[in-house]
Amino acid sequence: MVERGWDEFVESYDRIFLENPLYNEAIKTIVLKLEGCGDCAVAEIGCGTGNLMQAISVAYPSAGLYGIDPSADMLEKCARKFGNRDTIELEKGGAERIPYGSDKFDYVVANYALHHLQPGRIAATVREVTRVLKPGGMFINSDFFVETEALPPDIERVREIITKLTGQALYYLDHGAYEAMLLLLDVLPSGVRGEGDIFTTTGAWIEPMRAERFDRFELTPVGPEEFGLKVITAIRM
Ligand SMILES: C[S@@+](CC[C@H](N)C(=O)[O-])C[C@H]1O[C@@H](n2cnc3c(N)ncnc32)[C@H](O)[C@@H]1O
Repeated sequence: MVERGWDEFVESYDRIFLENPLYNEAIKTIVLKLEGCGDCAVAEIGCGTGNLMQAISVAYPSAGLYGIDPSADMLEKCARKFGNRDTIELEKGGAERIPYGSDKFDYVVANYALHHLQPGRIAATVREVTRVLKPGGMFINSDFFVETEALPPDIERVREIITKLTGQALYYLDHGAYEAMLLLLDVLPSGVRGEGDIFTTTGAWIEPMRAERFDRFELTPVGPEEFGLKVITAIRM
């Protein structure tokens, strides 16, 4: 994925991701976590083409949506999807530097995005999320997580990544998501090598979040638990 570059990948992104049953389940899970949102302010870091924000806008039509992504082409595709809707703002930026003021959002969400960060950047990202969330606001991070802390080429880690990603690929095959399966097999070698996509444990997020006084952690699996897809939620105290 990283080798292709997001700008290059943008045109086929929706076709491939929207056929992926686990991606759609992640979106539904996140939307449910926003229960009671009303006219809340929601920032999505790594919003891509805006599929999650679109689902949020359908479920919570009065929500203020703020999409942030480093890829200009992803943002342009996202903007086309929303037309002239005036309750959405899109900004170029990354997770480590969120281009908004402090205490602004009721929710900060991320879906399939934060494994693009180098592990050394997680603490800086957590500080940024803490800064932009209102007290009592919720951080929702949906991603693929591993159990093994060690970095590649640790054999247990490599075995875990191969098992989980090929498990997902076979699940896609069985659920008619052929292109999603091919894409996953395509990114498997770089995922194993730890190039670009750096898969972390949930603890790699939870520890710095505790240090920033996040509380009320919940872990919700997406799809079969053995695939490692999870949504971490916690409240900023
Ligand atoms: C798989 S896409 C997910 C997009 C969207 N969240 C969704 O649910 O479809 C990953 C996105 O993360 C973005 N990204 C890459 N590095 C990032 C970073 N450091 N901070 C924020 N977003 C990043 C990419 O540009 C891409 O749009």
